[in-house]
Amino acid sequence: MAKTSIAFFETTGIEKKYLKKKFDKNFELFFYQDELNDSNSNLISNINIISPFIYSTINSKVLEKTKKLKLIATRSTGFNHIDIKKAEKKNISVANVPYYGENTVAEHTFALILALSRNIHKAYVRTTRNDFALQGLQGFDLKGKTLGVIGAGSIGVHVIRIAKGFGMKVIAYDPNPNHILSDMLEFKYVSLDELLKSSNIISLHCPYNQYTHHLLNMNNIKLVKKGALFINTARSGIIEPQALYYAIDNNIFGGAGLDVFEGEELLKEENQMLTKNVSVEHLEVLLKRNILLRRENVILTPHMAFDSVEAVERIMDTTVENIMNFLEDKNYHKVI
Ligand code: NAI
Repeated sequence: MAKTSIAFFETTGIEKKYLKKKFDKNFELFFYQDELNDSNSNLISNINIISPFIYSTINSKVLEKTKKLKLIATRSTGFNHIDIKKAEKKNISVANVPYYGENTVAEHTFALILALSRNIHKAYVRTTRNDFALQGLQGFDLKGKTLGVIGAGSIGVHVIRIAKGFGMKVIAYDPNPNHILSDMLEFKYVSLDELLKSSNIISLHCPYNQYTHHLLNMNNIKLVKKGALFINTARSGIIEPQALYYAIDNNIFGGAGLDVFEGEELLKEENQMLTKNVSVEHLEVLLKRNILLRRENVILTPHMAFDSVEAVERIMDTTVENIMNFLEDKNYHKVI
């Protein structure tokens, strides 16, 4: 019987070792550190199953080249890096990992909130220079402040739970409200405008799609309560870049903690830029990132909110389960 071929992209040595143990000799496994995109799509022309992470671009051109592909088992919650319509047309199923890290991403959200509210990042830089002065480091309490959660799903709800532990008031905007949950956790659903006007901290936890593209934009950014903190661990496209820069430049946002930001996928290749031809697009992104980095009230982290030991193991376990169940015609986390 022919072996089932699986190609894993964007894998580290640790992941390769862990995943190899999960499949027997009926499988032929391929591991690549690189992401999958137009330039290396020949690698999957005869592969049955692929498993990318979020930096791969599985567009219609890539899918066009596949002859035997039956399943895309993305090792992520979001799947906006996959052309779902094209996959459907080619009768390719798509599976994701919906639950691996609601606490993990929520904890990182609070790492960003606390760093900004207590100036931990500034204090760190100063003390490494042997400067222990307090001037300019005074923070503010979270207790009694209002947190506005945009998207009260798995991660958003975990953020709400943590916020309640800090004694914060919580409001949420979500087109699919769950009133039993809001009664239980004592938070209130409000309109987006109301949330922007009333929150001391705004945190994004909705998916990125055609409805949430530039959900925060130049039209509604001016509603934000002056000096609010802005936290984005969801996806960069949910806020219009121009609105983000405008809000930071005009002290509408008193600070921003960004795990995701425009062009992050291009910046991963920054080390290669010295040897490659640099496109204008790359340069623009680099310039904008450097403008953000120069700001004392902005903290960037490299899309790492999901990345804890426990969460990565959960991701791999669910991916293996998705693949096995797909092959055995059992239930799996099916996107399409
Ligand atoms: P989820 O599907 O459990 O929750 C999303 C919530 O957003 C739902 O309650 C939904 O009703 C709501 N929503 C949908 N459209 C909306 C809109 N227009 N406005 C406001 N709310 C809306 O998803 P989960 O697991 O909580 O993840 C949220 C997002 O976090 C993912 O889509 C992903 O992009 C991002 N993420 C980021 C990670 C990182 O490492 N930075 C890791 C994992 C997820």
